Amino acid sequence: MEEKACARGAKERRPLVLGGRPLRVPLIQGGMGVGISLSGLAGAVAREGGVGLISTAQIGWREPDFDTDPIGANLRALEAELRKARETAQGGMVGFNIMVATRRYGEYARAAAMAGADLIVSGAGLPVDLPKYTQGFPVLLAPIVSSQKAAELICRLWERRYQRLPDLVVVEGPEAGGHLGFTREEAESLTREEYGQEIRRILDTVKAYGDRRQKEIPVAVAGGIYGREDVAWALDQLGADAVQVATRFVTTWECDAPQAFKDAYLQAKKEDIVITQSPVGMPGRAIANRFLRQEAHPRPRRCHQCLERCRPEAIPYCITDALVQAASGEREDALIFCGANAWRSREMETVRQVVADLFPE
Ligand SMILES: Cc1cc2nc3c(=O)[nH]c(=O)nc-3n(C[C@H](O)[C@H](O)[C@H](O)COP(=O)(O)O)c2cc1C
Repeated sequence: MEEKACARGAKERRPLVLGGRPLRVPLIQGGMGVGISLSGLAGAVAREGGVGLISTAQIGWREPDFDTDPIGANLRALEAELRKARETAQGGMVGFNIMVATRRYGEYARAAAMAGADLIVSGAGLPVDLPKYTQGFPVLLAPIVSSQKAAELICRLWERRYQRLPDLVVVEGPEAGGHLGFTREEAESLTREEYGQEIRRILDTVKAYGDRRQKEIPVAVAGGIYGREDVAWALDQLGADAVQVATRFVTTWECDAPQAFKDAYLQAKKEDIVITQSPVGMPGRAIANRFLRQEAHPRPRRCHQCLERCRPEAIPYCITDALVQAASGEREDALIFCGANAWRSREMETVRQVVADLFPE
């Protein structure tokens, strides 16, 4: 096991190749909803040689008919954002992050494929039927997993049901932002060393499936990748093929979040970053503020059709309302998702500076 990991962590880094296309940097920008990673950020990351991801989570929240027809508004905005991202991407790769827990998930996946996305990355649940929705389109597909068990399951199911394997696997660890695939206790206590062992098991599993079908399936490590030492840990020590980075990109000028959201990151101290139970039924990491300290929240005015499984009468607050508040520039009465390393943000940067800092070579 150790020897194998060493062999994988050889000094020379392999270029990341996705669907036969080599990328200039082995970097995927993590999708961030609501309204945090749209065309601005995704286009800029793609232009710098990584993969830019637009989050589809309530992507149409600024559309005039969002209140009456949220899904129609979202599907329209999805197309518009991809078009805009392509204008800045200069031929770079752009795709979508679509959460499995989304209501009418299949329609979003199909719309993303039809719009011409290069890649769909999908987590917050296991995207067991994603290939069904994108059949007939050349879009690359990447599940997000947090455990070896989930990686094994998705490879097995896709192979059996759809005779295909993922084109990329994203491993999201306990330091990630937004909703987490761990219990609160795990997210708070799992060390990098412990989780590194799980990542190695995932690498072995994915490689075994790839070998059987003579397919190279790159694996990207996500969660807490903030500086070049984190990149070195993932690529050189663990032997992963790429990193997926979200939090570090929030404090870039190109990021689509309002400045108030970015300021919340710039001013956050380590102790301000907390894990909360989201109404989605998963723990989520966010910046402590009045909203999180509050015991009671206003009842949702209307349902925005965001989640497949939500009982509006039983939830403490509406996740869409809380995230849209944040995307609209509200800092205190809003849910400000962030990764465990958000406190490391010190100054505004350009996407080019971030990429150059993560990959000095
Ligand atoms: C503000 C914010 C919003 C996020 N929204 C989503 C989302 O809509 N869907 C998703 O799959 N992951 C989401 N994530 C997780 C990221 O895509 C990414 O995998 C993770 O945050 C990586 O860790 P890092 O932030 O430490 O780089 C979000 C993360 C943040 C910080």
